[in-house]
Amino acid sequence: MSAHPAVENAPRYEDSAFMRACRGLPNARTPVWLMRQAGRYMREYRAVREKVSFIELCRTPDLAAEVAVTALDAIGADAAILFSDILLILQPMGMDLEYLEGGPVLHNPVRVALDVERLREAEPRENLAFVFEAVRKTRERMNPALPLIGFCGAPFTLASYMIEGGGSRNFENTKRFMYADSGAWHALMEKLVRGLTVYLNEQIRAGAQAVQIFDSWVGCLSPGDFREFVLPHSRALIAGIEAGAPVIHFGTGTAPYLETFAGAGGDVVGVDFRVELADARERLGDMAVQGNLDPCVLFAQAERIFERAEDILRQGAVRPGHIFNLGHGILPGTPVDNVKRLIAFVQEWEAEAE
Ligand code: CP3
Repeated sequence: MSAHPAVENAPRYEDSAFMRACRGLPNARTPVWLMRQAGRYMREYRAVREKVSFIELCRTPDLAAEVAVTALDAIGADAAILFSDILLILQPMGMDLEYLEGGPVLHNPVRVALDVERLREAEPRENLAFVFEAVRKTRERMNPALPLIGFCGAPFTLASYMIEGGGSRNFENTKRFMYADSGAWHALMEKLVRGLTVYLNEQIRAGAQAVQIFDSWVGCLSPGDFREFVLPHSRALIAGIEAGAPVIHFGTGTAPYLETFAGAGGDVVGVDFRVELADARERLGDMAVQGNLDPCVLFAQAERIFERAEDILRQGAVRPGHIFNLGHGILPGTPVDNVKRLIAFVQEWEAEAE
C-alpha cells in the first residue's frame, strides 16, 4: 500500500456504491453489506474470542479493527461496520453489563424514576474513547475505497434493555414503566439521546462515513405508543447528527407503521423481511431503503439463496437508493460459504441484467 503514490491512497469512498445509494443517487450495481458480518459464524472471529471475552474484544481497538477488517475482506462486502456493541454506552451511565451464554444481562435494571435520576450522563468522549480509537484503526487498515459504518442502539431499544435487565419477549416492564411514569420515561430517553448524539458525532469525527441506528425491538410497540413514547426521541437523535454523514435508521417489525418510523428522519430506512421491499419502496417514496433478506435463507441451498436475493434486488431496483442487506443480523452457525456466495451474487447481478 505505502508503495503507491499518495493520490492513489486518497479516500474514494464518496464515490462508492454504498455512499451513492445512501444519497439516493443511481448506481451501476446494488451495494451490499450484512448486519453482524463480523461475528461467531466466522472461524477467525471464534479464534479471537477463545483468547478474550467479548467486552475485552470491544475495548481493545486493535482487536476490534482486526475483526471488522478480517470480516470485510473475507466476504468482500461493499462497506465495513465498526466492531462494537450497542450496549457498551450503558456502562458509563452506571449499568452493570455482562454478556452471558444466553445473551446480555443488566444486573441493576431501571425500574423507578429514582433509578433514572441516578443514571449518569454517558460522556462518550471521556468514557468511550476506545470506540473512537477502534474507528480510527479500522479506517486506517481497511480498503480506502470502501466506507466504514459507525453505529449505536436507538433510544427505545437501549431503554428496553435497561428496564428489562436483558432481552425480552413481551417487554412488559418497559411498557409498564412507559405508562406508569411517562415523565421518567421521557427523562430516560432524553438522557440516552444526549449521550448517543455525542457518541455518533464522535464516531463520524474519528472516520466513520455513515452511521446506523439499531432499533431492533421497536416493532413490539403499537403505532400510537411509537408516536408518543419513541418518535420524538429518535427524531431528536437523528437531527443532532452532523450534516454530511448519511444516517441509516433500522428497525424490525416496523411494517405496520413504516411511514411514521421513517418520519424520524435520516437518509436510509432499514427494514426487516416481514415487509415486501417493493411495498417499502412504494411507501417511502424517494427515501433510500436497506434490506431485507431473511437471515435464515442463508441456511438454505444456493439456488434458494439466489432466487430470494434476486427477488429483493428486482424490487429494490425500481428507483435509485437500495442497499442490499439482511432483514436482521447474520445468525451464529450460518455457513460462511453461503455468505460469500450471496455477496458475490448481489455484486454480479446488475452486470448480468444489463
Ligand atoms: O458485524 C457486526 O455487525 C458487528 C458489530 C455488532 C455487534 N452487535 C457485535 C456483537 C453490532 C452492530 C451489534 C448490534 C447489536 N447488539 C444489536 C442490534 C442489532 C440486532 O441484532 O438487532 C443488539 C440488539 C445488540 C445486543 C447484543 N449484543 C445481543 C442481544 C448479544 C447476544 C446475542 C447475539 O446475537 O450474539 C450481543 C453480543 C454480540 N454483539 C456478539 C457480537 C459479535 C456476540 C458476542 C460473542 O462473541 O459471544
